[in-house]
Amino acid sequence: MAATASDTATLTLGDLSVNLPVVTGSEGEQAVDITSLREKTKLVTLDPGLGNTASCFSKITYIDGERGILRYRGIPIETLVEKVMFVDVAYLLVHGTLPTAEERHNFSQLLNFNSLMHEDMRHFFDLFPHEAHPMHILATMINAMAAFYPNVDSQSLVENIDRATARVISIVRTMAAFVYKKSIGEPVVYPRHDLSYCANFLNMMFDSPVKPYQIRPETVRLLNILLILHADHEQNCSTTAVRVIGSAQVNLYATISAGISALSGPLHGGANQAVIEMLRMIQQDGDVGKFIRKAKDKDDPFRLMGFGHRVYKIYDPRAAIIRRECEAYLKTIHYCDPLLDVARRLEDAALADSYFIDRHLYPNVDFYSGILYRAMGIPENMFTAMFALARLPGWVAHWQEMIGSRTKIVRPRQVYIGKGLQTADVFPSKNPLLI
Ligand code: SDX
Repeated sequence: MAATASDTATLTLGDLSVNLPVVTGSEGEQAVDITSLREKTKLVTLDPGLGNTASCFSKITYIDGERGILRYRGIPIETLVEKVMFVDVAYLLVHGTLPTAEERHNFSQLLNFNSLMHEDMRHFFDLFPHEAHPMHILATMINAMAAFYPNVDSQSLVENIDRATARVISIVRTMAAFVYKKSIGEPVVYPRHDLSYCANFLNMMFDSPVKPYQIRPETVRLLNILLILHADHEQNCSTTAVRVIGSAQVNLYATISAGISALSGPLHGGANQAVIEMLRMIQQDGDVGKFIRKAKDKDDPFRLMGFGHRVYKIYDPRAAIIRRECEAYLKTIHYCDPLLDVARRLEDAALADSYFIDRHLYPNVDFYSGILYRAMGIPENMFTAMFALARLPGWVAHWQEMIGSRTKIVRPRQVYIGKGLQTADVFPSKNPLLI
């Protein structure tokens, strides 16, 4: 169901008055369509963080930040984490429906056949310093895929979207595991045809010729849940980067590389690693109240990482599921993480404080996810790479939707506040370079 132009908004400025159509989305949210504004009035709108601006029509994900609702193609995440695996959700995001048994089988085959990166790409790993952050390596390696997998023009990729999706989410999963193995100086472990997507990733991460890795079903289940919860989130910073870069007809791999780079920021996907660093600092200091005061102090750059969200003004529904799974998983594996206790005390203190309540600052998806990754044995510098792995199908789905809607190249306007015309006397009388 497309948005309907149901009303009009009238903009009046002095003796200027213009009617603008108002469109209504399928969940009732409304937007003033300003596509004709400059043509009619020479006016532009100003919205630096784009927090009040809808950049596109989309059918992929719906978020209601006031009610804590998150649905992929209309299905609530609470249902998806109970009923299906990450691979099904990847298919759902790209195709709009969950796969039939046959579609699931064919997609799984594609994921298997596309799980090996070009063997020549393995030499790239030898060129990175050991301490290179996995997100920087992944962004580089994915960009290089355009050289190894030609025919990357948008049309051919959209016509073979399942192969393009499989290549992106399967090869990048292998790359991420290889990045980890290289960082610890261990031989890489290749994907296996007999393992599921998540079991394969865990095996590539933790199996070793001298210490076979025991794949635990509860860990595979948990990884599926974490990847599902991070798979898409409508027009977040990195997805917007994908749409903007993709609008210039840049190939899919370079577009995904831009998404990886945007996600790596500590205000975005990099927050899950920053949360653990923050919790460890609070644990060592011992005074939770001191850090609550620091977070409230405008003169202090410290913020509660994993808290707050541009859209959610109540508890992030993903954080609620992750917290629940965190408590259960740590009990199942008899693992006690003191940082979980710090996180609980920090959350309790913040949610009792008017500063956070008044600003609608609640735990977001990143607040507890790092504690789970730690319990699974995933190192902190890989946390954001896990987020990227999960977000890949979301990015592919938005790229496909953007290409399919024949979006024009994204080129916003500005309000210029710089100097007026500068005359010749601004130049020094004698140009020292000409002496
Ligand atoms: C993700 O967009 C998405 O959907 C992203 C994401 C996804 O799935 O793609 O959900 C994933 O990126 C989650 C967010 C991860 N980032 C963090 O946890 C970093 C810490 N959070 C903040 O930096 C902040 O809350 C943001 C960046 C998440 C949102 O910032 P906004 O919407 O721009 O809000 P703001 O910075 O204007 O803050 C509004 C007020 C300010 O105080 P006042 O000026 O009104 O007095 O709230 C305060 C801020 O100082 N504030 C915080 C705070 N977050 C906001 N104060 C202390 N600690 C915080 N974490």
